[in-house]
Amino acid sequence: MSDLTKILILHGPNLNLTGFREPEVYGKTTLEDIDAKILEEAPKLGCDARILQSNHEGVLIDTIQENRRWADGIIINPGALTHTSIAIRDALVAVRIPIIEVHLSNVHAREEFRRHSVIAPVTVGQIVGMGGYGYILAMMAMLNLRKATL
Ligand code: DQA
Repeated sequence: MSDLTKILILHGPNLNLTGFREPEVYGKTTLEDIDAKILEEAPKLGCDARILQSNHEGVLIDTIQENRRWADGIIINPGALTHTSIAIRDALVAVRIPIIEVHLSNVHAREEFRRHSVIAPVTVGQIVGMGGYGYILAMMAMLNLRKATL
């Protein structure tokens, strides 16, 4: 059996426009470039990463469910669904694997409604405000959870 830590990485609504939408908030790097970097770093860290972006809540939920036996952990940026989706939260609880929430921007330094995540209480933790590098940090954190080195 492979020793790689299998990580499902999910990007929610509008994140496909990263690099184009509000670059002053989300940066100029495109999602394609962020995903390429994730896939480049994953094997170096010891991870096997599967990545999906969807603008549809149901597709995100289906993907969480379908990967429940494959994934050792999930890294998710639910986009605006962070603030509203009990259905995504329930799916994440149902699969019973560690969850890390990532946001490109520092949601705590923005509008009041972005400070509240319905997802956060069912995660191990959040990484916010680090742009695309947040996903690399999240992979490192997921590995550390598994290997418990620190
Ligand atoms: C976001 C923050 C959300 O509030 C927003 O709706 C997004 C992106 C982030 O990565 O900073 O779409 O999840």
